[in-house]
Amino acid sequence: MNKKKLYLYPLWLRIWHHVNAVLMIVLIFTGVSMQYSDPNYPLIRFDIAVDLHSTSGIFLTISYFIFLLGVLFSSIGRYYLVKTEGFFTAFARQLRYYLFGIFRGEKSPFKVTQERKFNPIQLISYNVIMHAITPFTFITGWALIFPETIVLNVYGYSGIMLTSLVHSIAGFLISIFLVIHLYVITIGPSPTANLKSMIHGYHEAIETEKTEEIEK
Ligand code: HEM
Repeated sequence: MNKKKLYLYPLWLRIWHHVNAVLMIVLIFTGVSMQYSDPNYPLIRFDIAVDLHSTSGIFLTISYFIFLLGVLFSSIGRYYLVKTEGFFTAFARQLRYYLFGIFRGEKSPFKVTQERKFNPIQLISYNVIMHAITPFTFITGWALIFPETIVLNVYGYSGIMLTSLVHSIAGFLISIFLVIHLYVITIGPSPTANLKSMIHGYHEAIETEKTEEIEK
C-alpha cells in the first residue's frame, strides 16, 4: 500500500466551496422557515428570513458564476468531463462498493489521480447539482424577486405558483444532496480526511493492489 499527496483543491476552489456551503445552508434554513413555520412562531422571523434568503440568493448567483468560470477556464474543468468509455461499468462498481463493499471493509475501487479526482458517482452528482439544480434554484429565485417577469398563466396554472414549486423542489433536492454529501465525505482514509483536504488542498491518495489492478 502506497500513500501520496495530490494537490487537487486550489485555494480559489476551497474559498468558493466554503462560501457556497455557508450560503446554501443559510438558504435552506431560511427557505424551510418561510415555507413551513407557523407565522406566529417562526423558526426565523419572517421578514428577517426573506431578507437573508434573497441576499444569500444574490451572493450565491455571483459565487456560482465564479465556479462556472473556474470549470470553463481553469484546470479543474477536466475533472467535470464525463468520458463514456467504461463509465457504466465503473459506475456500477462504485455503487456496489457504496452499497455493500464498504460495509465489508473493502477498499474503494476508484483510484484518485492528478488527472481524475471524482469517482463516477461523485462525477454525476457534482455535475447534476452544480450544472442543473443550482441554476434552477437561482433562476427561479430571481424570477420570484421580480415576479412581473413571470408568465401569469401556464395552461391554466399560475406561473408564479409553478415557479415557486420548481424553486422549492430544486431547494429540496439540494438539501438531500447535502445530507448525502456530508455522509460521503466521511468515507476516506479517516472520517475527517476529505474535510481536511478541502481545508489544506491536498488529497491523501491511498493506492492498494486492488485499485492498481482495476486501473490496469
Ligand atoms: C457543511 C457543508 C459542506 C461540507 C462540510 C462539504 C465538504 C466537502 C468536501 C470535504 C469536499 C471534498 C471531497 C470531494 O471532493 O468529494 C467537497 C467537495 C465538493 N462539494 Fe462540498 N461540502 C459542503 C457543502 C456543499 C454544498 C452545499 C455544495 C453544493 C450544493 C457542495 C458542492 C461540492 C462540490 C461541487 C465539490 C467538488 C469540488 C471540486 O473539487 O471541484 N458542497 N465538499
